[in-house]
Amino acid sequence: MTNTLLITGGAGFIGSHFTKYWIATHLQDRVVALDALTYAGNTANLAEVWNDPRFRFIPGRIQDQASVEWIFKTEKITRVVNFAAESHNDRSLLDPGALIQTNVYGVSVLLEAARKFGVERFLHVSTDEVYGTTDTGVFKEDDPLLPNTPYSAGKAGGEMVVRAHHVAYGIPTLVTRGGNTFGPNQYPEKLISFSLTRLLQGKKIPLYGDGSQRREWIAVRDHCAGIATVLEKGEPGQIYNVGDHNERTNLWIMQRLLSELGMDERLIKRIEDPRGGAHDRRYSMDTAKLQRMGWKPERSFDEALSATVRWYRENESWWRPIVESEDYQTFVRRFYGRYLGEDL
Ligand SMILES: NC(=O)c1ccc[n+]([C@@H]2O[C@H](COP(=O)([O-])OP(=O)(O)OC[C@H]3O[C@@H](n4cnc5c(N)ncnc54)[C@H](O)[C@@H]3O)[C@@H](O)[C@H]2O)c1
Repeated sequence: MTNTLLITGGAGFIGSHFTKYWIATHLQDRVVALDALTYAGNTANLAEVWNDPRFRFIPGRIQDQASVEWIFKTEKITRVVNFAAESHNDRSLLDPGALIQTNVYGVSVLLEAARKFGVERFLHVSTDEVYGTTDTGVFKEDDPLLPNTPYSAGKAGGEMVVRAHHVAYGIPTLVTRGGNTFGPNQYPEKLISFSLTRLLQGKKIPLYGDGSQRREWIAVRDHCAGIATVLEKGEPGQIYNVGDHNERTNLWIMQRLLSELGMDERLIKRIEDPRGGAHDRRYSMDTAKLQRMGWKPERSFDEALSATVRWYRENESWWRPIVESEDYQTFVRRFYGRYLGEDL
């Protein structure tokens, strides 16, 4: 069967990789990417598929009901994959209310359009951060949600709206909860992309607190393949963890980036933790439910990390205009000014 996918947030980091992945692997399908092109959206991420007749890009916000309904109607959308979100914890700490519009209300608008026009599947992309933090063990899909930052609270809120639409209206929803994702085209604000682009500019990198916070890392391509598996084979109403069990401390990640670049550890600047008590100590997920559907991560963490370092080295033309933009510099000044001082 031929499907038309609505991929929201398709110009962002994971959404653009997913769009390219789907176009390359589902030759009968069409993809419509809807993206508000916020500071994090970048049409250059979609250059590979831009002229493909099976691809269409529409600029717009998911909370704009009239535009969303027009897209469902004119494009005859059969499947939705919702990546659109304000996705940064640190920005969410500066402006906690702003993300509710996209991460909660926008999800409701999409679901309402799905209810009105009917879809075969509605997949909502969420995060392991909704579980909160755990010092031991692994999160399972039916564990309670205990988000600790405005970002993760907004993502948890979005999930609740998805759940209610499944229960109350029978919308065939699916939710994925992905781990910390890395790879090419990641906006330079998250640990790996932020640190890499700073090091490549000869700047110091800030280590929050003692750097012992542990994250489970997954290569973007494996995360996309996990989402695709859930979209094809998942059971409506269900939630699936997507993780790769590559648990590393933030300090380990920084040391590894420095060694890849042949740089000195003195470029690490230890700062008081800007997230304070909201900084989750550890995430770790049980992924047996997804693996039972045949998915497994295919990239070695070491190789994917080296490839990411290479990509940022070779694609300065992608990240340089971003780090020199006013929006970016304002954020860095607002968030890191008091911690980095002369090393800003
Ligand atoms: N990056 C990670 O490590 C990670 C891990 C797990 C889950 N996720 C989730 O995956 C999704 C994508 O994350 P990402 O890292 O690619 O984020 P990103 O910030 O790179 O991309 C988000 C995209 O959404 C767009 N967008 C924002 N608000 C919008 C709106 N109102 N309407 C339409 N488009 C809008 C932006 O322009 C951008 O292109 C998010 O939902 C995020 O919560 C991310």
